[in-house]
Amino acid sequence: MIHAFHGEILTTPAPDTVAHYPDGLLVVEDGLVVALGHYADLAGRFGDIAVETLPGLIVPGFVDTHIHYPQTSRIAAHGEQLLSWLEQHIFPAEKAFADRAHADGVASFFLDELLRNGTTSALVFATVHEGSVDALFEAALSRNMRIISGKVLMDLGPEGLRDTPETARGESEALIARWRGRGRLGYAVTPRFALTSSDAQLAVAGDLLAAHGDVMMHTHMAENTGECAAVEAGYVAAHYIDAYVRFVLVGPRSLFAHCIHMSDAAMARMGEAGSAIAFCPTSNLFLGSGLFDLAHAARFGVKVGMGTDVGAGTSFSMLSTQGEAYKVGQMRGAVLDPFHALYLATAGGARALGLSDRIGGLQVGQEADFIVLDDKATPLLALRTRGAGLAERLFAMQVLGDDRCVARTYIAGILAHSR
Ligand code: GUN
Ligand code: ZN
Repeated sequence: MIHAFHGEILTTPAPDTVAHYPDGLLVVEDGLVVALGHYADLAGRFGDIAVETLPGLIVPGFVDTHIHYPQTSRIAAHGEQLLSWLEQHIFPAEKAFADRAHADGVASFFLDELLRNGTTSALVFATVHEGSVDALFEAALSRNMRIISGKVLMDLGPEGLRDTPETARGESEALIARWRGRGRLGYAVTPRFALTSSDAQLAVAGDLLAAHGDVMMHTHMAENTGECAAVEAGYVAAHYIDAYVRFVLVGPRSLFAHCIHMSDAAMARMGEAGSAIAFCPTSNLFLGSGLFDLAHAARFGVKVGMGTDVGAGTSFSMLSTQGEAYKVGQMRGAVLDPFHALYLATAGGARALGLSDRIGGLQVGQEADFIVLDDKATPLLALRTRGAGLAERLFAMQVLGDDRCVARTYIAGILAHSR
């Protein structure tokens, strides 16, 4: 089945590539992009097909490279930095996911919230409970969303939220076997962070990653100075990254959230390994973790995507997240270009997840996940964008916009949300 969508289209498929079609056409067949370009160039090629005109700026669906679905209801928890925030606010909330019905309810709310915000793909933390992953995958399968997740490994976690190296292996293997090849889902081996897994469990994570060539590895690294000191105190080693390097967890299918407190050697190691970073500005500001150095990562060729990191992150909106990334840049004396921010939130995220061939750029052959942005969604946005050029309109939405700007969300060419 062929559908064609007509309107203004913008995509940033590579770091320095901006493709803008003021009067564009996006042609979709069976969920895949078959053509993208100027309407005048393409309309004749597709004969009699029905064309729908969309009211707004069509861009690829956002790719959130780091978010925690079980923390949805704990967003905006006051007063703490990372380690005490986890103890006081997060671990109690995650314990509730032992109950499958609770997990089902939160998973549905969470995925609908992603769609409302224009996020069509995400790498998602679940909890230590096997059923928390089943709940998320079932809900994602029914929405045909591209979701990557996995059971959290944390044998050194608090009472009631602890597994063992053996159950970590067995439950992860069972989930991989149960969900492999279904819909658009992917699996990530997910040790929470170095402080909550024993060496024996990190070795299990390394085994799982080596045994399954189609799974990712997803964890946190070098987010908070107290966390770094606690990890580095345990080793003679020079940097946090060694805790993961020792178990062969730093490789081309690995994504590390945050990476704020990085030495040159640690960043170089990431680049050589082909590992990726999730830059989570709202979270880093909210928890007082620090200011991520995008230029440092670029200097060592490290792949970077953007993440909301809800519940430490303060918004599900990848538009707001781009605006906060700009402010982090300003604090560092580096100006983030609005098109580069859009790249990080779309094709850059896809690259960080190893999905460049599938999503992120609306390129021919890719999956047709896209959104329609309304740059007049609020009176202030309408005022600010009146008569403005493309870069200014995009930047205004990044700074002033959020889910209110997402007029529609399409999953594989099919309408999944409309404001
Ligand atoms: N490090 C270990 N666990 C977490 C978490 O849940 N959120 C954040 N932001 N950092 C972590
Ligand atoms: Zn996180």
